[in-house]
Order: sequence, then structure tokens, then C-alpha cells
Amino acid sequence: MDKLLITGGTRLNGVVRASGAKNAALPILAATLLTKELITIKNLPHLHDITTMLELLGSMGCGVVVDEKMSVQLDVSTLNNCEAPYELVKTMRASILVLGPLVSHFGRAVVSLPGGCAIGSRPVDLHLRGLEAMGAIISVEGGDIVASVDGRLKGARIFFDKVTVTGTENLLMAATLAEGQTVLENAAREPEVVDLAECLIAMGAKITGHGTDTIVIDGVEALHGTSYPVMPDRIETGTFLVAAAITGGKVRVIDTDVKSLEAVLSKLEEAGAKVTCGDSWIEVDMEGRRPKAVNISTAPYPAFPTDMQAQFVALNSVADGVARVIENIFENRFMHVDEMLRMGADIEVSGNTAIVRGRTSLKGAPVMATDLRASASLVLSALVAEGDTKIDRIYHIDRGYECIEEKFGSLGAKISRVLN
Ligand code: UD1
Repeated sequence: MDKLLITGGTRLNGVVRASGAKNAALPILAATLLTKELITIKNLPHLHDITTMLELLGSMGCGVVVDEKMSVQLDVSTLNNCEAPYELVKTMRASILVLGPLVSHFGRAVVSLPGGCAIGSRPVDLHLRGLEAMGAIISVEGGDIVASVDGRLKGARIFFDKVTVTGTENLLMAATLAEGQTVLENAAREPEVVDLAECLIAMGAKITGHGTDTIVIDGVEALHGTSYPVMPDRIETGTFLVAAAITGGKVRVIDTDVKSLEAVLSKLEEAGAKVTCGDSWIEVDMEGRRPKAVNISTAPYPAFPTDMQAQFVALNSVADGVARVIENIFENRFMHVDEMLRMGADIEVSGNTAIVRGRTSLKGAPVMATDLRASASLVLSALVAEGDTKIDRIYHIDRGYECIEEKFGSLGAKISRVLN
């Protein structure tokens, strides 16, 4: 199995381009199920999760043509089944995103129920309750969610008890072809939800309020084809910027979305970084300084994202001072901590809070990636650690970071993919 070998101690310096956002690309690919016309999605990141989603669409009979620039043309007119099997869903929970589009467009869907995952139990009850409110009949049979509706779904007023990103996306997609008006209240405001809504609007959907907590959708009878570029990845961008800060370096991320990173940028400034932005680029310059400890508390957008929490634990582990990091979204999202302790970090976890006491240095060690964002924090820790770090189970990293060794390598990091 591939591993990443990183020799720490280099100040990162240079320019790197942001890839397309995985978490916007996945719902947008699922949204193509809402039209029978040809549709092209551009700026897809080259990632395992994207391949899994394309495989899933292909397994339903959709035509999928990918070009060398990761634009994909999809043809849903040849769809011959509405099933998302366990083999695919178990490798990617976001497969649940096909549920709303399938039941709304084809009146039927069988989607394997995603189980628990490394970062917590992650139920999908709000997705199902919302679809039921729109008239879908839903049961769980043999581990599968079986959903059906006679005719069209009906518009409904849906209040989310908890802010859910993919839940909002599933119901937003379903509502575009429903009869009448749907109002989603306490909806997720994440930029990826907005990107999905913009793509749906380009397909002919009638949506207002996306980006606020109340989204209003007036259902239409059919959606049409379009060509749509996926937004840049704010989490990948943030990870490169933290890499600059943790190594005392200077990194400019280009072709990115500046507005979606406000909470992260303000924390980087608090850590002592000089942050400059243009229309589509962000630069972090740490000028060789050691970062200062910063407290973090994760919450739905526009607050600090849970997907950047692990990276800031890494930053704090070598910062000057003591930081309190509170994880409010997922119950078991501190698995990177045990691995970072192996590198000499001083972190104490109690419930959903980690107390991180900054050390002047970390030491390279063999460590294991446990989930996608946790693995990013191990890469960051390794970049600043003395000596070599070998990261095992890097398939977690490949799910979310495109060409990670090429991209970090271009910034001067000593990083390579090895077999043993
Ligand atoms: C999405 C992102 C993930 C990110 C997360 C939070 C994708 C593909 N993934 O995951 O990277 O970390 O948002 O920003 O976009 N919940 C329920 N019932 C539900 C749904 C969710 O109780 O039906 C709970 C979850 O257990 C969690 C919270 O709501 O505690 C937020 O989860 P949610 O926003 O749904 O996460 P995902 O959409 O799965």
C-alpha cells in the first residue's frame, strides 16, 4: 500500500493552484440526474471520490465521458436503474446525494443506507424526513433506503433541526422538480450549497435565498442541459495556507475563492501571518516567524469549518502558547491527535475539546491516516517535524487532495509517494 514519505524542515515558498471543490463537485454530479439532456461539468478535481460518483452514475446506465482536463459530459437519457449499491456507498457516504434527484426525477430510488464512519455516527434522518414531507414513501429494506413517489414530489415547508450540508443539498435538488413551492429553513449556507444552487439555476431551476438559511424553490416540470464549472476548493486552499504558516513560509494559492475563507483567514492573521488577497488569490506570509496559538470552535458556515479543524490542531501543536480547539459538528473528530502525539505533540482531549500546548518542535515518526482531514494534519505536522515521517493509509488523503505530493513538492516540500 502506498505511503507518503515527508522530510520536514523546509519553509514552503511558491504558488499553487486550487483544484475544483470535491464537496461542490459531488452534489453537482448528482444533480445531473435531474435532466435527460446532455450536461457538461468542468473543473472536477482528480480524486477517488469523484471517480466513485462517476462510477455510480455509470452503474445506473448514464453515459459518462471524461476528457483529459477533467471535464465530464453526462448523458442521463440512457439510465436503466435507480440503485446505489452498498459496494459504492460504503466507500463514499456522499453517494446519498443521488437519493433526492432519483426519486424526484424518476419516482424511485434504492440507495444503500450509509453506516457509521470514522468521525461519528452521521445519520441521514433529516434527508429522509424531508423527502417524506414532500410525499415520498420511504422504507429501509435489507440495509437499503427504498424511496418512491406516485407522480411528482410536492413542495413543502421543511425545517432542519440541525444544519446539514448534504441534507440541504439533497432536498434542494429534489425540490427543483417538485410540484409547487418548497421552503428549506435553517438550511446550510456553505459555499458548496450555493455552487450547487447556481448549477441548478443554470439548468433552469427556480431558486432564491441560497447562501442564506432560507432557500425557496419553485418546482419546474423539467430541467435542461448546461455547462458548469465547479467552484475552487476552499478546504484544499486553507490547507496550503496553513502549510505556509506552520513552516514559516510564504505561499500564494491562485484560482481560488477568496470570500469563502474569511473565518480561516482571520484565524491565520491571529496566528501572526500576513494575509493578502486579490480577486482570485490568497497569499500567506509567515516571514519565518513561529505561529501564535489560536483558539478554534467549529460551526456551520460562515463560522470556522470542521474540515479545517485538524489542520489548526497541527498549527497549534508548534505554536507559541496554549490553544483550545472545540469540535461542535462531529463527535469523534480528534483521531489525528493520537498520531500527532507520536510525533511529540502535547495535546489533551476531553470530550469535544482539545487543549493544545505548543512545542518548539515535533519529531518525524511512522503515523497512520485515519480519515480525510485528519490525514491533512499529519502532512502538515510532518512538514515541520525534524526528520522523516512516513504516513500510512494515504488513500484517505487521495479522497480529498489532488496530486498532493506534486502540489506540496512544487512549494519546496520534501515529499514522495513510496511503496513501503
Ligand atoms: C458535509 C461535508 C463534510 C463536512 C460536513 C460539515 C460533503 C460531501 N461533506 O458532510 O466534508 O465535514 O458537511 O461541514 O459535503 N446530521 C444529522 N442528521 C442528518 C444529517 C446530519 O443528525 O440527517 C448531523 C451530523 O451527524 C453532523 C451534523 O448534522 O453532526 C452536520 O452534518 P452534515 O452537514 O450533514 O455533514 P455532511 O453533509 O455529511
